Amino acid sequence: MTREWYIRPAELRDLHQLVEIEDAQFPEPWSQQLLRDELTTASHRRYTVAEHQDVVVGVLGLMLIEDDAHINTIATRPEWEGRGVARSLLDEALPVIAAEGYRRMTLEVAVSNARARALYTAYGFEPLGVRKQYYRVTNEDALVLVKYWQRDSHEP
Ligand SMILES: CC(C)(COP(=O)(O)OP(=O)(O)OC[C@H]1O[C@@H](n2cnc3c(N)ncnc32)[C@H](O)[C@@H]1OP(=O)(O)O)[C@@H](O)C(=O)NCCC(=O)NCCS
Repeated sequence: MTREWYIRPAELRDLHQLVEIEDAQFPEPWSQQLLRDELTTASHRRYTVAEHQDVVVGVLGLMLIEDDAHINTIATRPEWEGRGVARSLLDEALPVIAAEGYRRMTLEVAVSNARARALYTAYGFEPLGVRKQYYRVTNEDALVLVKYWQRDSHEP
């Protein structure tokens, strides 16, 4: 089936739609100002969106520091979930990140977030550690997951 959306770099004009998705999908949503900073002044960022007819249906935000890539955010507009939007964002980004020489990708995910955890498992992410009570609103622990392209000798 032909995909109904395409992937492109995020732009400032997407801000209000990113806020909508953030508010709809996260118990501790990032503020408009924080998202604006991510798109404008923050360095070492790579934000992409999935767009369908002027509607942003998903977003992936990476922070790229030294040889580490970190998933700052990934979210799909609720009514678009389960159609492969998140997969397509990762499918676009991961080969580019690997080719640019990043050694690994990390992220935090709430322990109870089965949907996201299934997604990451499918992409070969593995457990690295736990951050206790990382999410302040829910008081929930975060799992830190990692996907390696190059593993240092001290890394299991
Ligand atoms: C997690 C999230 C980004 C997935 O987005 P999506 O566009 O629905 O995901 P996709 O349709 O690309 O599905 C990718 C994989 O996610 C998992 N998944 C998606 N929907 C699922 C569901 N209802 N139940 C279990 N796993 C599910 C599956 O592994 C799926 O792969 P498959 O289709 O091969 O089975 C989306 O649910 C979301 O925005 N959640 C809220 C925000 C969030 O939790 N972000 C992650 C923070 S760490």
